[in-house]
Amino acid sequence: MSRKRSNPQTEERDVSRRRTIWALAAAAVLAMSVLAACGDDDDSGDGGGGDGGGGDKPKVAVLLPDSKSSVRWETVDRPLLQKALEDGGVEATITNAEGDKSTQQQQAEQAITNGAKVILLVNLDSGSGAAIAANAKSQGVKVIDYDRLTLDTDANDYYVSFDNTEVGRLQGEGLVKCVGDKPDAQIAVLNGSPTDNNATLFKNGYDSVINKKFDSGDWTEVDDQSVPDWDNQKALTIFEQILQKADNKVDGVLAANDGLGNAAISALKQRKLPQIPVTGQDATLEGIQNIVNGDQCMTVYKAIEKEAQAAADLAIALAKGDAVEADTVPIDNGTHKVPSILEKPVPVTKDNIAEYFGNPDYPTKEDICAGKVAANCDKLGL
Ligand code: BGC
Repeated sequence: MSRKRSNPQTEERDVSRRRTIWALAAAAVLAMSVLAACGDDDDSGDGGGGDGGGGDKPKVAVLLPDSKSSVRWETVDRPLLQKALEDGGVEATITNAEGDKSTQQQQAEQAITNGAKVILLVNLDSGSGAAIAANAKSQGVKVIDYDRLTLDTDANDYYVSFDNTEVGRLQGEGLVKCVGDKPDAQIAVLNGSPTDNNATLFKNGYDSVINKKFDSGDWTEVDDQSVPDWDNQKALTIFEQILQKADNKVDGVLAANDGLGNAAISALKQRKLPQIPVTGQDATLEGIQNIVNGDQCMTVYKAIEKEAQAAADLAIALAKGDAVEADTVPIDNGTHKVPSILEKPVPVTKDNIAEYFGNPDYPTKEDICAGKVAANCDKLGL
């Protein structure tokens, strides 16, 4: 960050030297963008930083899972990871497997061939994640599980995520508040992908709250279904069937993320049914707009900027061979205790939407209150 100060006498010489440097830099950027255009999903480059070329910087690869199970991966995680890694002086290559395990495997292999020292992995399931980690380990490449823990492997070095049981607990508590004292409420549960360890943790969290309501007879569980791959389209079909079977008598939905929540909301709208409490997670633009419109009762906001920064800091230290300074907690993945960093989730309802405006991982007020949503934003004083 330190900048040299020049005095007036040297100013002119500096200007012409700077022009030459800028011309060289512009040529380098042009050459790099030509190279980048040849790669598929490759986002490498030094972001225009001033130290000339990224060729000898240590390399870090990020493997994202898909772009449909949640908008977070492409719209929030990718840019924040890219920035955090580049600011830390490493070269970042971010690819997305679009839900395909063999694609992710190939992306990992390619990253290692290209010289990646560290892989930040969002696995598509623990089996394929473990295979990627084992291959990386055998070639001296470090693996950080990003957001999703890979179970039953000794080859993951770190895990960075949120307290995901707490995420689920917040969803359960949110639903209890939103349903209120409606007698014999009929509740449907839409779980995330059965192959995502997070979905298990979310479920542990919300079950610890809502099972008490079922056990006491306050609520009746009309259905409890898992959505393969968190696929929003499948969620719509599943929820359609739930409504069909329940004769439209559903009074609340525990949906494990905003995408699944939105699927339930769409199915309710298609049948012209009244609004009922629906939960979510990720504080996506759509999720927050659903809250503003009264279609959804809560979401869980996870400060992805902190998650991305913590993971990037680890990756940077490992890639540069520096000592890791992070405070970690051990989390058992079935094979070993993985040193982990877990950030804190918070609930968002119509009452505290404005609290997080301005955060880089949270939708902006302008986006939320655009178009038809504006009138409802006004009503909430947003
Ligand atoms: C993440 C959630 C996301 C879901 C679907 C989970 O592992 O923690 O934030 O909504 O995957 O992509």
